[in-house]
Amino acid sequence: MNTGPARIEINEVGPRDGLQIEKAQVPTDDKVAFVDALSDCGFARIEVTSFTSPKAIPALADAQEVMRRIRRRGGVVYTALVPNIRGLERALEVGVDELNLVMSSSETHNRANLRMTREQSLAELGAVLQAAQAAGVPSNVSLSTAFGCPFDGDVPADQVLRLAHQLAEAGAAGITLCDTTGMAYPTQVAALCERMARELPAMPLTVHLHNTRGMALANAVAAWQTGVTRYDAAAGGLGGCPYAPGASGNVNTEELVHMFECMGVQTGVALQPLLAIVRGLPGLVRRELTNPLLAAGHRLATHAPPAWLAERFGPA
Ligand code: COA
Ligand code: ZN
Repeated sequence: MNTGPARIEINEVGPRDGLQIEKAQVPTDDKVAFVDALSDCGFARIEVTSFTSPKAIPALADAQEVMRRIRRRGGVVYTALVPNIRGLERALEVGVDELNLVMSSSETHNRANLRMTREQSLAELGAVLQAAQAAGVPSNVSLSTAFGCPFDGDVPADQVLRLAHQLAEAGAAGITLCDTTGMAYPTQVAALCERMARELPAMPLTVHLHNTRGMALANAVAAWQTGVTRYDAAAGGLGGCPYAPGASGNVNTEELVHMFECMGVQTGVALQPLLAIVRGLPGLVRRELTNPLLAAGHRLATHAPPAWLAERFGPA
């Protein structure tokens, strides 16, 4: 098996991608406590919230208050999603370390999610990139539906690369390829990541995977084998875009960390404090969450043998 980088970075997006789709209105205090707990786990970045229209994403209408109140731990980059100039203004008022701008690779999802054509989004993000640069804040750009669109179907790689080149020229400090509704499969992920590395070698690349069809971890390994070092993930596998039919959770952060840890890849993230947070998530979002890793524990969390073994075979 081809091995990838010895060390990777994980961006926790649960407070943003995770909470944006939850039916329960999570109180601001609980959001702040969630982010503060995540700050002690070793993430490279935490995407705290989104500065979107409160009509579009009512669950994150308290973005400014959350951003103002979180405890900012040194070494963690606190980011927020921004779709337009109004969002940038709100983000700058409260201070973010980095912006995560967003548009879609496919036309129909861009219209449904952002109420703009891709041309309009490119113009809007161009203005945001300029203004953010003037304010001294770096901007990553997330390209939604990069591996497939729930409306338009397959998204040609050429289309994704064209947008990535345009955004690079406009001043993006990084690009994230997002698998918004879990349509990506491993060979496709590897091919697109390799093309990005070939055509935009200096551009930091992140992959943002959803586990809608059970392929997220396989896709993460495929990206890793091509050299990708940055991964978005959501604690407890929360997440999903409310404007993408059939959307469901991001790749579970704890499963991603556990898997890479087993493979000897350093993630910087401490699994035990993360699992303690995951245990509290059903209380936060007020619904049951199935979590095989939480149920089974670490792969080396072994069990005491049955008592009769010692009687029959003597001490081991
Ligand atoms: N923050 C707060 N309010 C905003 C805003 C922002 N970033 N952008 C627009 N608004 C407000 C406007 O002030 C206006 O308010 P009013 O009705 O009180 O006058 C209203 O929203 C409509 O503004 P408009 O520019 O016409 O926006 P729109 O309705 O066309 O929506 C977006 C465009 C991009 C703002 C909206 O679709 C959006 O926020 N989408 C985000 C979707 C998302 O986050 N999806 C999941 C992540 S991929
Ligand atoms: Zn997502």
